[in-house]
Amino acid sequence: MASRRVPATEAQQVGEKREHLYKILVIGELGTGKTSIIKRYVHQFFSQHYRATIGVDFALKVLNWDTNTIIRLQLWDIAGQERFGNMTRVYYKEAVGAFIVFDVTRAATFDAVVKWKQDLDAKVQLPDGSPIPCILLANKCDQQKEGIVNNTTKMDEYCKERGFTAWYETSAKENINIEDAARCLVTKILQNDKLIHNNDAAKDAEKFALDGKAQKEQKNGKSCAC
Ligand code: GTP
Ligand code: MG
Repeated sequence: MASRRVPATEAQQVGEKREHLYKILVIGELGTGKTSIIKRYVHQFFSQHYRATIGVDFALKVLNWDTNTIIRLQLWDIAGQERFGNMTRVYYKEAVGAFIVFDVTRAATFDAVVKWKQDLDAKVQLPDGSPIPCILLANKCDQQKEGIVNNTTKMDEYCKERGFTAWYETSAKENINIEDAARCLVTKILQNDKLIHNNDAAKDAEKFALDGKAQKEQKNGKSCAC
């Protein structure tokens, strides 16, 4: 997604800062804690009260990543019930990272993770065609866990096989691991961004080199129309 250099006047004030805006999806079954994770991360707030998200909600988290970099995360909180709708293609557009959330107290929400991942990979890719980085969140880890999530080795294998960047046990209630998971995703996104920009720069350099050669050849009368 958009990366922009701060305009000269603004840059002078903030000292040559670079800004990135990244669209991040938060998806997973109903009631797994997507909205709660975002509320905790952005507003340092938690409520036991459950109000199902309808369609999609948004939140913005601004990170002072390092002295030269500001990162704006546009978090798309997609309702669990949307897996059965046909809007996800629209919601996923131009996302550069995702969290898939399941509820450690309900194994059925873990079983659905694979369907969310397939939906994601089928509908959004990075500009080079590779899947967008995705982190699996085993949420509500402040409660009794059910199923495979009790076995770290199996979870590691599962994530490797299914192409997850990483997985974290999280609790929106107790504020466990949410910042770490977000940092991991942003690190991966920045790496991808660099690769893509380096590729673009390499292509540009190649193009300039070819253009230069073509101009020289034209001067030498060797230009061809093919
Ligand atoms: P949809 O919008 O329907 O897709 O649900 P959601 O995934 O956004 O779930 P939401 O954040 O609304 O949370 C559902 C319920 O789980 C609420 O009652 C929350 O208080 C509770 N909850 C969320 N995260 C945690 C957690 O980490 N621990 C505990 N104990 N409860 C949580
Ligand atoms: Mg919600």
